[in-house]
Formats: sequence, structure tokens, C-alpha cells
Amino acid sequence: MHPLEQLRNDALREIETAPDEQTLEVARVKYLGKNGTVSAWGEQMKTLAKAEKPVVGRLLNEVRDAVTAAIETRNAQFRSEKESSALARIDISLPGTPHEIGALHPLTQMWERSIEIFRRMGFSLADGPDIEEEWHCFDALNTPPEHPARNEQDTFYLPDGRLLRTHTSTVQIRTMQAAPPPIRVIAPGAAYRRDELDATHSPQFHQIEGLYVDENVSVADLKGALEFFMRELFGSGTDVQFRPHFFPFTEPSLEVYVKSKALKGGERWIEVAGSGVVHPAVFEQVNKARGDKAYDSEKWSGYAFGLGMDRLAMILFDIPDIRLFSQNDLRFLRQFA
Ligand code: PHE
Repeated sequence: MHPLEQLRNDALREIETAPDEQTLEVARVKYLGKNGTVSAWGEQMKTLAKAEKPVVGRLLNEVRDAVTAAIETRNAQFRSEKESSALARIDISLPGTPHEIGALHPLTQMWERSIEIFRRMGFSLADGPDIEEEWHCFDALNTPPEHPARNEQDTFYLPDGRLLRTHTSTVQIRTMQAAPPPIRVIAPGAAYRRDELDATHSPQFHQIEGLYVDENVSVADLKGALEFFMRELFGSGTDVQFRPHFFPFTEPSLEVYVKSKALKGGERWIEVAGSGVVHPAVFEQVNKARGDKAYDSEKWSGYAFGLGMDRLAMILFDIPDIRLFSQNDLRFLRQFA
């Protein structure tokens, strides 16, 4: 046996039986270190006869590779031993920490359903602030200063004269100020009135405002859109009724009622929205604010509506009391998960 082979056998045995990382490191230095025995053989090569050099050279390479690989293997063993002893301290039979999965609030679900239906009709989303100027909430919507809605008994005013919007119709104005016709938007959001809190009234409630302005828009378009919406929401057996009403910013104005066998107590008419054809005086106010004639009521006409989201959710989910929406009672909310 060549002395190099003897050296390899000794080295491999020592490495494979090394009891710990420190001993292994000592062995590494002993064989492969700068002054190690394998390295010494490299030096010795120079003194060999020419014919011997390639044979011994190849053998030396083999030995160096074998020793290097053995050290790496032993090192990997030490590493995995360490990992498994760390894992052994974890009791995998213990039960996990349960994560409670939340669910969407029934009002949010109602919003998502409604928005999805209007999207299919080509409406895009618009937005406006909850804290508004009187002008956007009333003047621009053709509501005169003496109108009861502007009363401090009905509306939350801020000390600086601004107010919490009493309806989402403010977004009609903001949308028309921002862009010329045609317009086809919905604006979901909160509205505020000084109502006493009871089973059917809340000082904060929620609406989806709709506005469509184009050439030749009529009451027929309004009725078609809202009938389609109600039937998508409540099922094809839903009846929709439009009753004449008054809003300062629409003419004619219509209140929207639904009745559906699919609903509990569905045999009575329930009011769900206000609507109408946009009053030319509203276009006039918008033009003044814009400083142009973009909303020329000779050319453009439109319809608008405001859907009561709380009411819609109450009849769709058969919820008896509007206060349940804001009480955060999980026994109530979990029923809609
Ligand atoms: N803003 C009205 C309300 O809150 C509803 C409405 C919207 C009526 C748009 C007509 C047109 O009662």
C-alpha cells in the first residue's frame, strides 16, 4: 500500500469517528491545514522522479478530495443532529393556536352586492367627503335657505359652518364639477341627520347615490335601471313601484317602493329610495361653479337616485332593528359569516 493510501485510511477513520466539531476541526488542520500531512505531500512531489510524478500526483488529488468530502459529510451530520435536537423540544402533539376568521359586516355585504350590480350597468364609483360645505349639500341642489332640512334641529353643523352631509347627493355636485357629461356614477357612503336613535332611525345611515347624465335620459331609463337593480337584488318575483314625491333637486321626483315574495313580510310595500330627473336648476348651479356651460340642459338630461342601504340590508337579511348594525354584537354579526 502506498503511504498516501495509508494516510487516507487513517484520516477517514479519524474523521468519521470524530465525536464533536472541535475534534473534527483538529483533524482538518492535521491533514489539510497549511502544515498538514496532505499538504506536506504536495511539497514532497517536487523531489520525486519524473516518472513517478503523474502517478503520485493523481493519488494525492484523490486523497485530498476524499478527505475534504469526508469532513464535509461529518460536518453536515453535526448540523442535522443539532437541528433535530432543537426540534425534539417542540411538542407537535399540542393543539395549535386557533385564528378566528372574521366576516364582512352585513352592510358591507349589501354594499358589495349593490355595487356589483351597478357595475354591470356601466356605473363607476365616485366619492366625496362626509364633512361638507352647505353649498354642496343644499344650495347647489336647489334647496333654498328656508328649507327645513337646513335647520339646526335636523342637521349637524360644525362651528365653522360646514356640516355632516345629510345625503350623498353632494357627490352628484362634486362629480359634475369635476367632469363634463356624459356621467354614470354611483357613490356609496354615510349620511347624517339629527334623528333620535330607534329601531328604524339612526343619526348615521348609509346610501348609494346614483347619477346618470347623457343625451335623452328620461324617467323610463330611471325606472328601468332601478327595476333591474331591485330584481337582481331581491329576485325576479320583486315588484317595484314609483310614487310621486318632492325633492328640490329633481323634477319629476319619485319614491321607490319594493315588494317581494322572497322577503319575509314581503307582502307589503317598503320604501327604499328617492329618485328623479335632475332639475335644470342643479345643472345651472354646476355651470356657475365650473364657469362654463358644460351642463347645458337643452342638450343634456339626467336621472339621480339615493338608495337607503340600511333599509335594503334590513329587508334582505330580515334584520328587525337598525341599531344592530352599530352595536358590534358578535352573536348578531356571526349570523352573516
Ligand atoms: N337625497 C335624497 C334623500 O336622501 C334622495 C334622492 C337622491 C332623491 C337623488 C332624488 C335624487 O332623501
